[in-house]
Amino acid sequence: MHPRNVGIIEDADGVGEVGNAKCGDIMKMYLKIEDSVITDVKFETFGCASAIASNSMTTELIKEQKAEDAMTLTNKAVAEALDGLPDYKMHCSVLAEEAIQAAIEDYHKKK
Ligand code: FES
Repeated sequence: MHPRNVGIIEDADGVGEVGNAKCGDIMKMYLKIEDSVITDVKFETFGCASAIASNSMTTELIKEQKAEDAMTLTNKAVAEALDGLPDYKMHCSVLAEEAIQAAIEDYHKKK
């Protein structure tokens, strides 16, 4: 009901955009990274409530974490942090995992 870290970072160090082939939804993640630590993260989504919740939780979990640690965050860990998602909604949490990985890969490419 109250998603956190929704929005855009204009001068992001890394941006990741991914889509879900199952439902056509889209996720975009923006990162600020200083000395390999994620200092700020925001997201936008064209997705369902589970996707919004997954991304909100993902942003909370990775903030102030090292980028290399954020790379290993799984959608299962995100779903567990949300106290679970229905089986038929687990694919929504994959968007969060993929968006963060894409944003960190973009950061490495820019660097
Ligand atoms: Fe598309 Fe949830 S139904 S992300």
